[in-house]
Amino acid sequence: MNSERRRRFDEDGYLVLPGFKPAHEVAALRHRTHELLAALDPHAGGGVFSTREPGRSADDWFLDSDCSVRCFFEEEAFDAQGRLTRPLPQAINKIGHALHDLDPVFDAFSHGPALTALAAELGLAQTQVWQSMLICKQPGIGGAVRWHQDATYFFTDPISVTTFWFALEDADVDNGCLWVEPGGHRGPLRERFVREGRQTRLLTLDDTPWPDTGRSTPLPCAAGTLVVFHGLLPHWSAANRSGRSRFAYTLHVTDARSVYDGRNWIQRGAMLPVRGLDGAVAPSGIAVAVDRTGAG
Ligand code: FE2
Repeated sequence: MNSERRRRFDEDGYLVLPGFKPAHEVAALRHRTHELLAALDPHAGGGVFSTREPGRSADDWFLDSDCSVRCFFEEEAFDAQGRLTRPLPQAINKIGHALHDLDPVFDAFSHGPALTALAAELGLAQTQVWQSMLICKQPGIGGAVRWHQDATYFFTDPISVTTFWFALEDADVDNGCLWVEPGGHRGPLRERFVREGRQTRLLTLDDTPWPDTGRSTPLPCAAGTLVVFHGLLPHWSAANRSGRSRFAYTLHVTDARSVYDGRNWIQRGAMLPVRGLDGAVAPSGIAVAVDRTGAG
């Protein structure tokens, strides 16, 4: 137990751990990502995923990515005539959301004793990995991600979701690094993203404003760095208007001792059971619906 790290996590809501992943693992994940992007078929379907327009995410392409591997276009991927504005691989916003279960290279990167030990240090005793995303932030087109809290998408009682954000390339303010509100995890959960059949909705739970830009801190970091943060920590990232991509990979992890809400958009069952950071099937993949929001 590294009590100083735990103390900082509890106080700030995040930790920045340079060099958490060795260079060869980072290179392997980047290489696999380029393979996936190169294999894209422009006629196989796709969708533009916008975090600013939650109504759009209700489409089948998004919903059925919960237990598969799918690519999502950037908002600016197409011109007014519907033509791609750049080569297909550079028009992709992200790949999600079950890479950690379905792709062997991502599986290897996403599980293991180092991650399990860190999670335990942060209080996650029985991990469940619900989602993975490879976020491309391609040069010149990578879109902004507005202020949000990841517990919006992975509600448990009590809140347990923790995000593991791996820099696969150097990230800085010019190519869209993370920005956070230090200590902001002690504030309320503002929103919930819920699934209702084939629809999704973004519910407002608390109208506490998002922080001023002056209260947010950029987290520039080198490839191989892990930023791990609390599910209530407000964070955002700017558009990438630089000439460099900013590949990052994220895992969203809860503790099976909390109750995973049945209205969360990702559910798992016997076909693809939720697993822990150790790679084993987690103790409880059964979702129980608990509505403590009073909304919806
Ligand atoms: Fe997030």
